[in-house]
Amino acid sequence: MVQFTAAISLAVVCSFISTALSISAPLSSLKHADNTPPSSSHSPVYRDQIAKDALKRDSNYQRFTYNARQNGHSKIERVGVIGAGICGLYTALLLESIGIEYEILEANPKRLGGRMWTYRFNETAWKNSKPGKPEYYDYFELGAMRWPNIDWQKRLLSPSLNYSLINVINHHPKTAAKDKIDLIKYVFTMENNTFNYNDVFRWRFQGIEGDPFKIGISKGGNVPDSLAKQNATKIFGQALMNFTMQFQKSFEEGWKEVLKYDDMSVRHYLREKRGFTDIEIDWLETANDGTLHFELSLAQIAIENWLFSATEW
Ligand SMILES: *[C@@H]1O[C@H](CO)[C@@H](O)[C@H](O)[C@H]1NC(C)=O
Ligand SMILES: *[C@@H]1O[C@H](CO)[C@@H](O)[C@H](O)[C@H]1NC(C)=O
Ligand SMILES: *[C@@H]1O[C@H](CO)[C@@H](O)[C@H](O)[C@H]1NC(C)=O
Ligand SMILES: *[C@@H]1O[C@H](CO)[C@@H](O)[C@H](O)[C@H]1NC(C)=O
Ligand SMILES: *[C@@H]1O[C@H](CO)[C@@H](O)[C@H](O)[C@H]1NC(C)=O
Repeated sequence: MVQFTAAISLAVVCSFISTALSISAPLSSLKHADNTPPSSSHSPVYRDQIAKDALKRDSNYQRFTYNARQNGHSKIERVGVIGAGICGLYTALLLESIGIEYEILEANPKRLGGRMWTYRFNETAWKNSKPGKPEYYDYFELGAMRWPNIDWQKRLLSPSLNYSLINVINHHPKTAAKDKIDLIKYVFTMENNTFNYNDVFRWRFQGIEGDPFKIGISKGGNVPDSLAKQNATKIFGQALMNFTMQFQKSFEEGWKEVLKYDDMSVRHYLREKRGFTDIEIDWLETANDGTLHFELSLAQIAIENWLFSATEW
């Protein structure tokens, strides 16, 4: 019996960043690399070390085996993992490390990694190009292109954590040199970013103090001057600080905190719990995010805000 539910609940934690693929194409099944039982592919010492490491970090494992027992499975037989994105691969690694058989179902016959994918519009043109040429920059990232360097995520991609997913992949005997994962620094903002609000253009290095964009009431806008003079990112960060702090303590603490407001959108929370007016909320939304994003659930945005509190990517 393939126990999809259990695999999904195990997978869910990392799916905040790397959402499991939803598969509509016919499934092609990715067998375990060489069709040997997973438990024999590593020496017991190696396996136990991964397991110990994983269990220490992952209270989900306990929940997972508990759920399986509650559902009447005295023994976990074989687990289906949906999608070979980062989340699916890490789930498989956890299962493998504790000797549970699994099968990853992946829709794409050509590549692994899910949304962690740089799409180049013209691969040939890119290969022939050099930095500085337009063709070199003719790409976009499909989602998981940057990774917050925060404790919670280290188990996946930290090059310095021995049993992180990236290290296991890079040290695996079957990983060819050309397939090794090489992380590069992600530049989030730079002094030469530009702002343009109310027809006022400004470079980031010029700063935003003193309401250059004429948002405040005294300059013809509609936001109270005391707020308009300040940095909207900072104000928004402070409004969600409680969640960020709890998440930094532990995922469980943060989760408990967001669930208290589970029925609220960000807009609702800012209005009802933090006392902002709708005009002020519109301003925070415009300056920090995108139109209608504050209609999203508070839980999602609080988690994003925690992840985006990372200073390194
Ligand atoms: C891709 O770029 C190459 C030049 O490097 C060009 O010959 C080719 O036509 C391009 N392909 C498409 C689909 O535009
Ligand atoms: C973990 O560290 C040991 C000793 O430094 C090394 O031999 C091994 O290849 C590492 N394993 C992984 C998965 O990084
Ligand atoms: C910002 O732009 C100026 C002028 O084009 C340039 O001299 C400077 O190096 C740029 N700074 C960065 C960090 O790219
Ligand atoms: C606004 O505040 C945020 C968070 O404190 C900071 O990272 C950002 O650089 C500030 N923005 C500007 C334009 O000064
Ligand atoms: C922050 O969280 C603590 C602990 O749950 C709670 O007691 C407090 O009321 C919260 N403060 C705000 C401003 O939400």
